[in-house]
Amino acid sequence: MTSVPVLELNDGHTIPQLGFGVFKIPPPATERATAIALEVGYRHIDTAEMYGNEEGVGRAVRRSGLDRGDVFVTSKLNNGFHRPDDARFAFDGTLKTLGFDYVDLFLIHWPLPTLYDGDFVSTWRTLEEFHADGRARSIGVSNFQVHHLERLAAETETVPAVNQVEAHPYLTNEEVRAYDREHAIATEPWSPIAKGRLLNDPTITAVADRVGRTPAQVTLRWHIQRGDIVFPKSTTPSRIRENLEIFDFELSEDDMAAISALNRGEEGRTGPHPDVFAYVPR
Ligand SMILES: NC(=O)c1ccc[n+]([C@@H]2O[C@H](COP(=O)([O-])OP(=O)(O)OC[C@H]3O[C@@H](n4cnc5c(N)ncnc54)[C@H](OP(=O)(O)O)[C@@H]3O)[C@@H](O)[C@H]2O)c1
Repeated sequence: MTSVPVLELNDGHTIPQLGFGVFKIPPPATERATAIALEVGYRHIDTAEMYGNEEGVGRAVRRSGLDRGDVFVTSKLNNGFHRPDDARFAFDGTLKTLGFDYVDLFLIHWPLPTLYDGDFVSTWRTLEEFHADGRARSIGVSNFQVHHLERLAAETETVPAVNQVEAHPYLTNEEVRAYDREHAIATEPWSPIAKGRLLNDPTITAVADRVGRTPAQVTLRWHIQRGDIVFPKSTTPSRIRENLEIFDFELSEDDMAAISALNRGEEGRTGPHPDVFAYVPR
């Protein structure tokens, strides 16, 4: 079985560098996809209350025969629950739906600076409570830009353990990654293969042909060699396995540089911009 490196977070907890993402996996299919991922060797699952599929993730973990402590599970606070009392209610709901008494990592899903009078600071303080009472082993943020992180640093005590942001070769997101690195925040690039959009890119297919790997494997390997934590999503069993088989080859410095040079900046972004995103599921 392929061995996935484990990284240490700034709070002393550890996290497998490669995981399995379940965004857009319909709830009825989630248990099966997660079970396949666990069977082939993934030990890190990334879900969110917004995905509506925490229940399937929890069931797959509980039925896997693995110890709860051997699987790293992340979930995220949904956008309608940023006020402290709502966040407490939502976090109770996440644990109940997963069927766990703790999560390994809990994130503020989006900063929503145009909602809640721009107050994501009291939301963060509420996550500090979950960390203090042990029900969230680690806490972090998602889609935080540098200015959002600077505000947390100025107004609160806890440095987020991770920042989960969109990043891939078309949006390398260097400014956020640099801030994260300087402050010991682990970067978790979401949509690591840009939802499949870069798999026909001639630079990536040329490297893939040369090293005898698939474009997805080359792209995921590029993230790993940058030191980031990724969790590609797939409901296709062969791809779930393929995405894990990236620890027995290395990209050269030239290949790393060629892939990084695909960066298109903001034009490469596939999802919403965190400064304006204000979606609240009803
Ligand atoms: N924090 C946030 O705001 C946020 C936002 C988006 C995503 N995320 C997290 O990041 C995870 C990954 O991002 P994502 O799901 O948006 O996109 P992604 O992992 O970049 O891409 C998933 C897409 O690529 C396809 N795919 C996967 N492996 C492949 C392979 N080896 N070859 C060819 N195609 C392949 C999948 O198809 P099939 O399923 O059909 O195989 C699916 O259509 C999510 O699941 C979620 O956990 C977080």
